[in-house]
Amino acid sequence: MRSCPREGSGEAPRVVRGLSRWAAVGGLAVLLAACARSGDGMIPQNALDPAGPIARAQDRLWDIVFPVAVVVFILVQGLIIVAVVRFRDRGESQPPKQVHGNTRLEVVWTIIPTLILIGIAIPTVDTIFRLSAPAVPDALRVRVIGKQYWWQFEYMNAGTGAPIRTASELHIPTGREVFIELDGQSKDDGADVIHSFWVPRLAGKQDYVPGHMRTMRIQADNPGTYPGQCAEFCGLSHADMRFAVVAHTPAEFDQWLADQSRAATQPTTDRTRQGFELVAGQGCLGCHTIEGHPQNAGARVGPDLTHFAKQEKFAGYTYPQTNENLKQWIRNPQSLKMGAQMPDWGGGSPLSEQQLDALVAYLQSLR
Ligand code: CUA
Repeated sequence: MRSCPREGSGEAPRVVRGLSRWAAVGGLAVLLAACARSGDGMIPQNALDPAGPIARAQDRLWDIVFPVAVVVFILVQGLIIVAVVRFRDRGESQPPKQVHGNTRLEVVWTIIPTLILIGIAIPTVDTIFRLSAPAVPDALRVRVIGKQYWWQFEYMNAGTGAPIRTASELHIPTGREVFIELDGQSKDDGADVIHSFWVPRLAGKQDYVPGHMRTMRIQADNPGTYPGQCAEFCGLSHADMRFAVVAHTPAEFDQWLADQSRAATQPTTDRTRQGFELVAGQGCLGCHTIEGHPQNAGARVGPDLTHFAKQEKFAGYTYPQTNENLKQWIRNPQSLKMGAQMPDWGGGSPLSEQQLDALVAYLQSLR
């Protein structure tokens, strides 16, 4: 038996050294990435840090499947490495003895994976069935419509008076199931492309598909803000199709519902009165709803603005609602969010600075 020929192969070890250096750098980066803390909101979108019973049920599956996958991975990769090293070509002139068809081995490596897969399938199928059951009777039902690039939430069985619709902020009570209907069948509301609804700490993803109705459920244990993100590429501003689930105690949630059920605040100053007239005169009400505005036509192309000033952020939960951001948004939406459906007034804005101020003052009064 001869050892591996080394002559003339000075290039190979250098390549190997280079590769292992990069592998070390990569490994270190992965290790350091794992140093961020979870459980205290440091990673707000962490599916491994469940904040409610649905996310916990899904996380439990991960706790079962992941260790099994790690053991299988190490075993299989280890055997491959052993085989590669131990049976490598040592320059023998004869081809090695061919062994083929060991019945005992083949039975073993068929039975073991089958048992593993059955073991994983039982809890998985059980969880899938439990999570896809019909809504519990006292569930809060929310109809969700995906737009480019924001989510509309419509409360189906809550509040009194005018229907409650919010944009990019889903308010829920703690400790109560929220049954989400991802309604891709509402053509009138501009259901356009496929999106994916994902609040990592509350539940796994569910696709929003035009023409179809998909359902899912979320539930939060504690009050707080849980960030969400569209998880399916849907166009230029897919990455900025964010949203937030804001969980309140049941009492606070009832108060929120009562506030949202009111019609919009009427203008009380000259400036907000001017803005009040501008939203009608400039055609804003052709796309937006403001319940209580005399020219309101119930349009639902853009977000419902009835309680706009109560939101934290706008444009798909991307920009804080400062006066400057709002003015820039009205002047030139594309400069803040590419592909937004809000009409682009471009450079030749028909609104003067003074009119913009009035419009923004009115919007900020809509509490
Ligand atoms: Cu909607 Cu990505």
